[in-house]
Amino acid sequence: MDYRIALIPGDGIGPEVIEQTVRVLDKIGNKYGHRFLFTGVPAGGCAIDGTGECLPAKTIEVCRESDAVLLGAVGGPKWDHLPGKERPEMALLGLRGALGLFANLRPAILFEQLADACPLKPELVSGGLDIVVVRELTGGIYFGEKDTVQTADGMEAYDVERYSEMEVRRIAKVAFDMAMKRNRRVTSVDKANVLESSRLWRRVVTEVAADYPEVELNHFYVDNAAMQLVREPKQFDVIVTSNIFGDILSDEASQVTGSIGMLPSASLATGNFGMYEPVHGSAPDIAGKDLANPMATILSAAMMLRYTFGLLEEADAVEAAVGSVLSAGYRTADIAKEGEDIIGTKRCGDLIVDAI
Ligand code: IPM
Ligand code: MG
Repeated sequence: MDYRIALIPGDGIGPEVIEQTVRVLDKIGNKYGHRFLFTGVPAGGCAIDGTGECLPAKTIEVCRESDAVLLGAVGGPKWDHLPGKERPEMALLGLRGALGLFANLRPAILFEQLADACPLKPELVSGGLDIVVVRELTGGIYFGEKDTVQTADGMEAYDVERYSEMEVRRIAKVAFDMAMKRNRRVTSVDKANVLESSRLWRRVVTEVAADYPEVELNHFYVDNAAMQLVREPKQFDVIVTSNIFGDILSDEASQVTGSIGMLPSASLATGNFGMYEPVHGSAPDIAGKDLANPMATILSAAMMLRYTFGLLEEADAVEAAVGSVLSAGYRTADIAKEGEDIIGTKRCGDLIVDAI
């Protein structure tokens, strides 16, 4: 079968990690008899340089006509001087909004082979960690009314946190459905002791839970959740939370695993459409040097195979190939221990392709 993929290499190490991921997908295509048809489109800093806009209309159009989007990373120091609305990162928000990508899945997995990269005491993570943060991605303070205005006392700026029942219900369902396929625990994170929007959040999540009697639900305030993630991370299975709390907690959860450079993500719309990207950013300091770890992007492609294309065996094959390369002791610079030999981006891609 044919699958159409919009490819957004972006900036920094984005193009390098995407290149290796395309090779992996081509190998999967050959082995299992699929064709992945890629259309490269610009977004982020390179799009600003080429077209004057971080997210050209044509890019959105190509994404809409595709079955899925695979993105490297956007942003870099070259564009840091630009005002907020013109920064490359706005391309991400624009894509999320335009493509209706309301559900962001960010797995935080402790790879057994990299267990000593975890900054927590071994007894806190023995047996591994497998948490998924389900972050609401198209609502809340990121997309609420915002402005900077002149007042008698100087400038004033505001960003409104606002959630509708519909928005909370649909993300809660994603989290409960996910929990049903995992360890059947959902932790909903809010700030219901202070925020009106969080009180609505908590009520709606509790209502949705009634349809999932097998899933155990608990509620944490966000400050407590941040603390519990480092105190006793194994208590978590699925964490569901708002856009801004999910931004913060997903970085924390990924760092707890010690291998943020390994972690993939999926941003899903209603139906099967999704955008897939590594959790790490554009890492401009190592761009173009064949030093980046392509595994997070390759694992994002595995999520694409699983969630958008329903190709479960193929997704497992990609993940197993990454696992076998780690087990054989190969390490890119970001995950190597002192004194260990390191491999570059291309070699890492070669090894994974060969392992499939
Ligand atoms: C993320 C990033 C983005 C966000 C930025 C780059 C806009 O931090 O995907 O987590 O805040 O959502
Ligand atoms: Mg973030």
